[in-house]
Amino acid sequence: MQLLSQFLRRNETDEQLSDLIATLMVACKEIALKLRQGALAGIHGSTDNTNVQGETQKKLDVISNEILKTVLLNHSLVAGVASEEESNPVPGNKDGRFLVIFDPLDGSSNIDINVSVGTIFSILEAPAGEDFANEAAYLQSGRKQLASGYVLYGPSATLVLTTGHGVNMFTLSHTGDFLLSRENVLIPEETKEFAINMSNRRFWEPAMRNYVDDLLEGAEGPRGKNFNMRWVASMVAEVHRVLTRGGIFTYPWDERAPKKPGKLRLMYEGNPMSMLVEQAGGLATNCYRDIMDVEPDDIHERVSVALGSKKEVEALMSYHTGEE
Ligand code: AHG
Ligand code: MN
Ligand code: MN
Ligand code: MN
Repeated sequence: MQLLSQFLRRNETDEQLSDLIATLMVACKEIALKLRQGALAGIHGSTDNTNVQGETQKKLDVISNEILKTVLLNHSLVAGVASEEESNPVPGNKDGRFLVIFDPLDGSSNIDINVSVGTIFSILEAPAGEDFANEAAYLQSGRKQLASGYVLYGPSATLVLTTGHGVNMFTLSHTGDFLLSRENVLIPEETKEFAINMSNRRFWEPAMRNYVDDLLEGAEGPRGKNFNMRWVASMVAEVHRVLTRGGIFTYPWDERAPKKPGKLRLMYEGNPMSMLVEQAGGLATNCYRDIMDVEPDDIHERVSVALGSKKEVEALMSYHTGEE
């Protein structure tokens, strides 16, 4: 069994980047421990606060955000962090080399019902001479990411990581080590499984409605095969399923928020997941083009997401762009 640290050394990952990833995992192990204790640790339920996204913060959104901030901002390589739960970026060491962007707890509506949640992260190079309390330094496209990944807190805790050379999975052992459990993950090109919150159908663009309606027609319809549907309501769990056995996951633009396309956030969710999916041979788009090519204007910017098995995402895109 190969330890995460050994794996990174053998694959000649930049030593400072490896060091940062190890530090991030210190925080994620702490979050995993809190989650395991569940109700016994008093972590269930909501706070009275609303975050900058307009969502009521769960206790665990706040706890995991604090754990990540404390661990990362004490690290000399970290120039600053940006979080879904923070209105503004928080500066660290002005001479630090990295910026870390994270969704501390993804799928937080699932905490109280004891269903999978996760932490998503994205690592960028800190541009020289910038003020890391200012979001300008963080507004880099997904293509600039040095590494990204997530830790899924499910029946087992699993780190899924890319440093730009494929995707690998590491499972947290009882000794507290992340051990390599799946190497060079590749997403099958075709699928018969889709994930979307169907209750939003009436708000979607006509192209999305037509696409999903055709999936539901099954073998007798224009797609010529029977599709199955899954919805966990944790993006980490949906992406993990897609990386494990293929599929398409989408949280599209909908007309409830014309100026904020979709629900998911470009910097905390869209970009890191897109890097993983592309590195695993899949496609990650906003239904029209690659998410990682979007130039961000705002640290909390939203994005329409359609990702997964390459041929299926291309099929979905053709409904939107009209191109075959
Ligand atoms: P978060 O908990 O970080 O705010 O993100 C929740 C997101 C994502 O994980 C999931 O795909 C989606 O919200 C679920 O949305 P619905 O409540 O519409 O199912
Ligand atoms: Mn949230
Ligand atoms: Mn999230
Ligand atoms: Mn979150």
